[in-house]
Amino acid sequence: MRVSAYISQSFQYPQVMYDDARMPRNASDTGPMREAELIEKIREVLPPEAVLTSPSTMAGYLVDWTGNFHGDALAVVRPSSTAEVSALMHVCSAHGVAVTTQGGNTGLVGGSVSLDGLLLSTAHLSGIEDFDASSGQVTVGAGVTLAQLQKFAFGHNLEFGVDLAARDSATIGGMAATNAGGIHVIANGMMRKQVVGVEAVLPSGDVISTLRGLAKDNTGYDLTQLFCGSEGTLGVITKVRVQLHRPVVSTLVVFGVDSITEALDICSGFLGSIFAAEIIDRPSVESVNRVAGISIPFASALHLLIEVRGELDFDVLGQHDNVIVALDATDREKLWALRERVTESCAAEQVGVSHKLDVSFPQNTLGDAYTQLCDLLDRDGVTQVVIFGHLLDGNFHLFFTTPAADQEIEREVLELVARLGGSISAEHGIGRMKAAYLHLSRGESEISMMKALKSAIDPQGIMNPGVLFI
Ligand code: FAD
Ligand code: MLT
Ligand code: ZN
Repeated sequence: MRVSAYISQSFQYPQVMYDDARMPRNASDTGPMREAELIEKIREVLPPEAVLTSPSTMAGYLVDWTGNFHGDALAVVRPSSTAEVSALMHVCSAHGVAVTTQGGNTGLVGGSVSLDGLLLSTAHLSGIEDFDASSGQVTVGAGVTLAQLQKFAFGHNLEFGVDLAARDSATIGGMAATNAGGIHVIANGMMRKQVVGVEAVLPSGDVISTLRGLAKDNTGYDLTQLFCGSEGTLGVITKVRVQLHRPVVSTLVVFGVDSITEALDICSGFLGSIFAAEIIDRPSVESVNRVAGISIPFASALHLLIEVRGELDFDVLGQHDNVIVALDATDREKLWALRERVTESCAAEQVGVSHKLDVSFPQNTLGDAYTQLCDLLDRDGVTQVVIFGHLLDGNFHLFFTTPAADQEIEREVLELVARLGGSISAEHGIGRMKAAYLHLSRGESEISMMKALKSAIDPQGIMNPGVLFI
């Protein structure tokens, strides 16, 4: 059976191919009678308001944030407890119905929109419980947004270690499932470093929990970490136990620089006290200026934003011409907006088909990688090129547009990344968008081991079909 990613006409991602044995039997391939029966069985285990079937109520769930991926579903379901998720998964595994889990739908690689079967929204898994003030750990429902967790932490004079611009919608379950990065990876690590336990419902409907909150627990495989970065392919994360941190006092400084090398030199002068180090090119700044009206008093080729903990050495700053120090919260907010509004500004100005690539390189190749990326994208038919990202994570985000669907240019970029020893996905995950390119960053034996894990846990392949693997 061929399963093609339901995407807007403008894009033709590689067809996702399954042989019949692997592809779950799901409603749409056995006609309306079976669909009605399945909906009935689902309605037996969920309250009426948790099962959406009308096209109008489902529509918002069936297109991703980029607009490049459109989906389909037998129904959108919104369980509000682990028990409901478990009962639902029992029905889905008994009848081979595909399930795509969706948190805030801010993912950027097409993994949060169902091709078929059920779209399971975690929006109603929204509890915050078991806060332990002595360890600074708390357990949250998968559907709790990053902003809600940040507010909870602030109320306890703590902060959460991962921050990203999609905070109002991105959920803690989704961030764990994609192992999100954000602006503080250099100091706090990725999402998996903040996660100390998960509760998840397996495709079989069985519930696993590692929420014990023990500082040390060396009893077999680390199932917590297995779910971090699993992108919905192993089960539904229903709760996440996270570690909160003491707040950090830092100062935001923005430099205008001419090259990646110059930006890295500046960072080396602050090593050990850097809490964030972001790079944005001039087209990024110009787009944010046009769309959000935010500007900066110097127009350099690149702009380096660094957050420095502790005392600021003004002598070091004095050695540079184009420097701004945020002296108060308003300054900080405006300067951070310059960086955080890049994604939405580019999307707002997009003409034609957008391409978003999130790649990373070894630190010592960054300057050369940046030059080679600029050269590769400098060609007819490729417009609105913007490069920005998390400099000290070696992570560039590329945004560019083409008049029509163009897989070729994406393949060329990802092959360049592989040649330079980088990763085809730094923090956004693989989703459906990069499943055909996984071999560029993972070895054959790694991929077969991951597929063996997947088929052991999800033998029918009902969890997020087409995500991570083709
Ligand atoms: P969704 O988009 O709903 O889902 C993403 C994937 O996780 C899908 O495969 C889905 O099936 C799976 N999933 C979701 N919830 C669960 C669950 N409970 N159990 C199992 N699987 C689940 N990402 C970064 O890493 N760093 C950034 O700096 C960053 N900045 C962003 C800025 C903007 C403006 C936007 C729009 C996105 C940004 N992102 C960033 C991408 C996105 O926010 C992250 O990937 C985030 O982790 C997705 O969370 P979500 O709840 O929206 O997940
Ligand atoms: C960011 O760092 O802004 C995000 O990862 C989003 C993006 O890449 O567009
Ligand atoms: Zn990012």
